[in-house]
Amino acid sequence: MSENGFTTSTTSTTTPTNSSFNCFIIAAITADGFIGKDSSHLSTKWTSQDDAAFYRQKSTEAGVIIMGSNTFNTIGKALPKRVNLVYSRQAPAGSKNLETADKLETGEIYYTALSPREIREKLQAKGFNSLAISGGASVYQQFMASGEVSELWLTIEPVIFGDGLRLFNSDLGQIKLELRETIPLSPQNLVLRYQVKSQAEQA
Ligand SMILES: NC(=O)c1ccc[n+]([C@@H]2O[C@H](COP(=O)([O-])OP(=O)(O)OC[C@H]3O[C@@H](n4cnc5c(N)ncnc54)[C@H](OP(=O)(O)O)[C@@H]3O)[C@@H](O)[C@H]2O)c1
Repeated sequence: MSENGFTTSTTSTTTPTNSSFNCFIIAAITADGFIGKDSSHLSTKWTSQDDAAFYRQKSTEAGVIIMGSNTFNTIGKALPKRVNLVYSRQAPAGSKNLETADKLETGEIYYTALSPREIREKLQAKGFNSLAISGGASVYQQFMASGEVSELWLTIEPVIFGDGLRLFNSDLGQIKLELRETIPLSPQNLVLRYQVKSQAEQA
């Protein structure tokens, strides 16, 4: 049993791809690999309470989350105890511009159209060392393609959609992963933690 209360099975540890900053994807997926039926589908309509608790814990530990405006609109408010970044070309109500914000505060919303690398650099400059990539497909895609992602935490939910939004929405070539940990959240839910292999190992 780990200190977070979840039973884990862990393989040996290695250094993450970006050892000074942990930029990780966190998502719930159906057994057939979808993250939602469409862009306005609220995740909590089909994901488990256990996954919600797991997401809350992991993203609060990270301190900063980023989500696309479609995902933000399905939730409609800032998540507490986390700095909320919203990827958007226009400012959601009550948000501030990440580029001009002096200080990043938990429970506040900052919108941005900066690249994944620029966002990571901005966060590092402000003393943060972790970012939870919180969807949807377009945001997972951009961060994965950017090379900034070091880990993926995927909760497999016991449901099938047959069609819908995939975790990624475009070709990513072939990105090699290593399965580092499996966490049974409940008898029905399993979390898989993958580490993205280093540049040298991708070749
Ligand atoms: N299962 C899960 O764990 C999980 C997690 C999260 C989301 N989801 C699901 O994912 C779906 C939404 O995904 P989605 O791919 O349709 O949308 P999304 O990624 O949430 O949002 C896309 C929007 O974000 C903005 N955006 C994206 N990249 C940007 C950039 N580089 N610069 C500026 N703005 C940018 C654009 O909005 P503007 O027009 O505002 O500029 C774009 O239309 C929903 O069904 C949601 O429930 C599932």
